[in-house]
Amino acid sequence: MSLLPAHYLCPLCQQALTLTDKTYGCTNNHSFDQAKQGYVNLLPVQFKHSKAPGDNKDMVIARRAFLDKRFYQPLVDKMLVLYQQYGQSDAPLLDAGCGEGFYTHQHKTIENQVYGVDIAKETIKIAAKRYQNCHFSVGTLSKLSFSDNYFGWLVSVYAPILENEFTRILQQDGYLLTVTPAEKHLFELKELIYKQANEHDITKTPINKLTLVEEQQLTYAMNFEHSDDVLNLLAMTPFAFKASKELIEEIKTMSKFTCQADFILRLYKKQDKK
Ligand SMILES: C[S@@+](CC[C@H](N)C(=O)[O-])C[C@H]1O[C@@H](n2cnc3c(N)ncnc32)[C@H](O)[C@@H]1O
Ligand SMILES: [Zn+2]
Repeated sequence: MSLLPAHYLCPLCQQALTLTDKTYGCTNNHSFDQAKQGYVNLLPVQFKHSKAPGDNKDMVIARRAFLDKRFYQPLVDKMLVLYQQYGQSDAPLLDAGCGEGFYTHQHKTIENQVYGVDIAKETIKIAAKRYQNCHFSVGTLSKLSFSDNYFGWLVSVYAPILENEFTRILQQDGYLLTVTPAEKHLFELKELIYKQANEHDITKTPINKLTLVEEQQLTYAMNFEHSDDVLNLLAMTPFAFKASKELIEEIKTMSKFTCQADFILRLYKKQDKK
């Protein structure tokens, strides 16, 4: 059996949650219903800073359409090589800020339990609906509903990195793999929008509690032959709202467009500092 019951803590009192009749409950009678898609919402209203936090539905739909075309598959392949090289095959894995689950589910094996957390309910809904072999929950990265030292592997792709919480839920000798943009990521797309595109600032936010064990850059060209792919890519980015109507119309007429993907992968380990 490759999908075991999920291990969550109650977001209100931090006691363990048990699943009975599609409801997760703790000994203090707090309860959280499992949605029909299989996910659970562990984000109590008082933890929300807005009505619909995180990415909106249109961004999620655009991201799924783009990722489904495998333009970022070389990135997943590199992530999986690191996981196979360093990871402990049966330790639980969490994709923190998992979006619609594209990276999450590709880490699932018959040995491990894979979790995905995101603050945006719409994205978790479509993740859970498609990838039924992973545990998805709505939650905030700043207060994760998991026990201390629970995970052997954490993944963070283009999502906020919360050092204290990530360190708390990682096992000793567990790993955090982060993916962030490198200098030239989507440079040609940005050039369409800004007269003078800036390169990404890649100075890393220092992570002090974990030890950096590997840093790799992955750069390749993406050749687009359908304007829809370019429009989806644009819609996924934080600079989408800067695009004028004229530019959108111009993109629609393009039959070819080449743009760079440029990523930095950093692998950190939780170990005692010497
Ligand atoms: C750029 S998207 C990346 C999604 C996914 N990792 C991917 O690459 O396809 C960032 C994700 O982080 C989520 N997010 C942002 N702040 C968060 C928070 N405080 N807690 C949980 N998720 C958060 C957003 O809802 C969004 O799905
Ligand atoms: Zn409780």
